[in-house]
Amino acid sequence: MTATFDKTEPLAFDGPPAAGRELDMEGLSWILFGHAAFQYLNAASELDLFELLYDKPGLNRAEIGAELQLAERATDVLLLGVTSLGMLLQHDGQYHLPAVLRELIPTDDWQRFKDTVAFEQHVVYEGQLDFAESLRTNTNVGLRRIPGTGRDLYHRLTENPHLESVFYRYMRSWSELANQHLVEHLDLGNTKKLLDCGGGDAVNAIALAEANPALDVTVFEIPATKPITEKEIALAGHSDRISVIAGDMFADPFPAGFDCVMFAHQLVIWTLDENTQLLRKAYDALPEGGRVVIFNSMSNDEGDGPVVAALDSVYFAALPAEGGMIYSWAQHERCLRDAGFTSFERISFPTWTPHGVIIATK
Ligand SMILES: C[S@@+](CC[C@H](N)C(=O)[O-])C[C@H]1O[C@@H](n2cnc3c(N)ncnc32)[C@H](O)[C@@H]1O
Repeated sequence: MTATFDKTEPLAFDGPPAAGRELDMEGLSWILFGHAAFQYLNAASELDLFELLYDKPGLNRAEIGAELQLAERATDVLLLGVTSLGMLLQHDGQYHLPAVLRELIPTDDWQRFKDTVAFEQHVVYEGQLDFAESLRTNTNVGLRRIPGTGRDLYHRLTENPHLESVFYRYMRSWSELANQHLVEHLDLGNTKKLLDCGGGDAVNAIALAEANPALDVTVFEIPATKPITEKEIALAGHSDRISVIAGDMFADPFPAGFDCVMFAHQLVIWTLDENTQLLRKAYDALPEGGRVVIFNSMSNDEGDGPVVAALDSVYFAALPAEGGMIYSWAQHERCLRDAGFTSFERISFPTWTPHGVIIATK
């Protein structure tokens, strides 16, 4: 179903200025209350407000309150926020979706977007309270907000089943928002065996295996995650071509016999020294002509954007492990050089997420 509201839509969101634009008081106030703007998005997402307006465009305030079973004041708060932020448009008392939501909701990316909202709310939000202290001490102070004894977020997920399911649902969705471009740009025609280091629930291993019928993939994961990975591989029907090794990619040797080693959403977690160490292990394990693939978000070499890379870096600085961020292309390339690689190419993807890939050849 498509909405029929096609009046000229007011440009509600100018947003905080990007690098190079002069910040004014309005932009500064957007940043001041940025956390509250996110809470309106999260509430609308949890209450399925946008789906309601997609199915029934033009509802009025009372009808929305009744459909969502919200009290009058609660409806007033919610509509004040989502309308002033541009997430809904109001005309003569009737509410409609802006074009960006009308176009997104009928696609598979809508659930992926909502999974990302849930991850920001349930996993990321609290740990960010320790961002300043994490900068001061150059370590992930926010991990103290996640109950458990594991040495990093990943080793604590199994101690927090709700967080674990929110995390892996998000991780699958975040990968799927960009991995069709990975499949498109990574030519695996001559590759026989790919090692997916820290491959999560195998979302990228499955996408690459499906696009390359002659390819075998091994996912290298921590023991606690292995059952999740194996379940998703079996559900996708690929247990014959995708296997899982449980281990620690820092402490254990890399298995031999692979002509491609992939780090997907991996080298954003660790320090640059740790990244170089991982890339050196990959270099040593690869044959001449073998390749390393770095697939994740990238910041620009000037160190001033894009803004999503900057905002996502708060999480990586404050929460999962001692030190990470959305590094620049040049920083990854420096690690590759230090690990022994001399030849690499960078490909940035045409997505709203700042994803890209670096492919290095030994
Ligand atoms: C950010 S997730 C990325 C998952 C997947 N590559 C993706 O792109 O969807 C990082 C993954 O690395 C795994 N991991 C963390 N430390 C690890 C280690 N020392 N050895 C192996 N895997 C590890 C985590 O369990 C987690 O599944």
